[in-house]
Amino acid sequence: MSPKENGATSQDRHAGDVKRPSGREKVPVMATAAAPATQEDAQLKMRARELTVRYSEKVAIQNVTIDVYAKQVLALIGPSGCGKSTFLRSLNRMNDTVPGVSVSGYVELDSEPIYGPMVDPVLVRRRVGMVFQKSNPFPKSIFENVAYGLRIAGVRERGVLAERVERALRHAALWEEVKDRLEESGLGLSGGQQQRLCIARALAVEPEVLLMDEPASALDPIATAKIEDLVSELRDDLTIVIVTHNMQQAARVSQRTGFFYMGRLVEVADTTTIFTRPRERETEDYITGRFG
Ligand SMILES: Nc1ncnc2c1ncn2[C@@H]1O[C@H](COP(=O)(O)OP(=O)(O)OP(=O)(O)O)[C@@H](O)[C@H]1O
Ligand SMILES: [Mg+2]
Repeated sequence: MSPKENGATSQDRHAGDVKRPSGREKVPVMATAAAPATQEDAQLKMRARELTVRYSEKVAIQNVTIDVYAKQVLALIGPSGCGKSTFLRSLNRMNDTVPGVSVSGYVELDSEPIYGPMVDPVLVRRRVGMVFQKSNPFPKSIFENVAYGLRIAGVRERGVLAERVERALRHAALWEEVKDRLEESGLGLSGGQQQRLCIARALAVEPEVLLMDEPASALDPIATAKIEDLVSELRDDLTIVIVTHNMQQAARVSQRTGFFYMGRLVEVADTTTIFTRPRERETEDYITGRFG
């Protein structure tokens, strides 16, 4: 039998094992994105088991075991330096590019290991795309920014490229704003538009999973709201794992939330549970703003 996720599942929670020492403050109740009634119907998309990542000697995350369900948003929260980005990067082998990194444990995508000796990390990254905190458009036209991954994948025909670029820009809710300026530089867009351009670039190769590392942390409230709406819409088609420092954002966009602390996944459960009756003291302290 495979090891359990760190922290209890929603089923465990319903079994009534909530630890709540008396006299502690209630955590604030937040409006959360509707979670499915049970995880039983949800299809497993990725799993990490006993995942440990070191940078040279330093352990960044330790024994992380977690499931990622298809067509859901999993939010990862926790204080700075607790390993959220490290964990996210381990889901598409982006850590491979960091010197001195070592990974133990395993990660599966559709029940296939992504760290196997025969696995091409480039193909993994095509299926598991990534968007970073700081938008990083290439110094190329808007069109070429989005077409980039398609060209690498060997798509040459102008008509096919144009159609895929338009579809990705529409998907990223940017098409209407840029359709008349596709040949202009991507660097000329506003911060929020640049971030949506990077999302379009990631979506163009039609990934199955999208990893988002604080995608809205540098944006104003309007641009942030657009990204959040987008995340909610994208969930119809793909699986999303999003790191955020903004707990309201986690509550708004995700169905499940995992709390990391000092390299460990303290608990993961449906988002409503994490924000209303977390199992662990550390989680409660964090979400009520007592540390971090
Ligand atoms: N390339 C690297 N080389 C060495 N140590 C690293 C590297 N990247 C991260 N670390 C260390 O690994 C630990 C986890 O870092 P990580 O970036 O995953 O945290 P985080 O939770 O994403 O933090 P933040 O919220 O500030 O983005 C930290 O102690 C960090 O200093
Ligand atoms: Mg980070």
